[in-house]
Amino acid sequence: MDNTYLLLLTAHSWVRWLVLLTGIWALVNAFSGVRARGPMTSRAPFASFMGSIHLQVLLGLALFAMMGMGGMAPFPDGPRDSFGWEHLGLGLLAAVFATMANRAAKAPARAAPVFVADGTPAPTPTPAAVNDEITRWRGALLWTILAWIPLLLAIPWWRPVLRMFGQ
Ligand code: HEM
Repeated sequence: MDNTYLLLLTAHSWVRWLVLLTGIWALVNAFSGVRARGPMTSRAPFASFMGSIHLQVLLGLALFAMMGMGGMAPFPDGPRDSFGWEHLGLGLLAAVFATMANRAAKAPARAAPVFVADGTPAPTPTPAAVNDEITRWRGALLWTILAWIPLLLAIPWWRPVLRMFGQ
């Protein structure tokens, strides 16, 4: 029980940095996209941010369940008795918002233009297509900023920066 707890806690502590790094990537990418107003060629930053938060939530839920079964209260060193529930709620909220950012970054469904392979140059983007791109960037930026707020509030900053399987 103790070993599994420490293993899960260590993984949860490390994955936090993955979440923060992918979160910075998503934020910087969304900011520059909104400024440049160009086409979004990759959703990788938003998908990575969402994926790493989902992984963190799974690890957190496993930890929570394990601790509950072992009769251990989460965050005995927390600022308030309710911090465990706040941590859970804020973590889930960050996951929902990061999922919305990834959703907003998806291209809207439009009929694909038909090309004939005869060397004709591709048509220039229509005003509607340019508008779609701006909407994607703005939506991705808004939800990414919103995900950062519960994320920063959820993290117990007083715990070790990078836990190494120790208590
Ligand atoms: C999504 C964002 C989340 C982040 C960034 C995050 C981050 C952290 C960090 C840094 C710790 C301290 C690790 C250590 O002591 O080394 C921790 C502990 C913990 N987290 Fe999360 N967490 C998140 C979501 C969740 C969720 C959704 C749950 C679900 C219940 C959860 C449950 C826990 C539990 C049970 C602990 C251990 C408390 C203890 O040792 O007393 N976390 N979390």
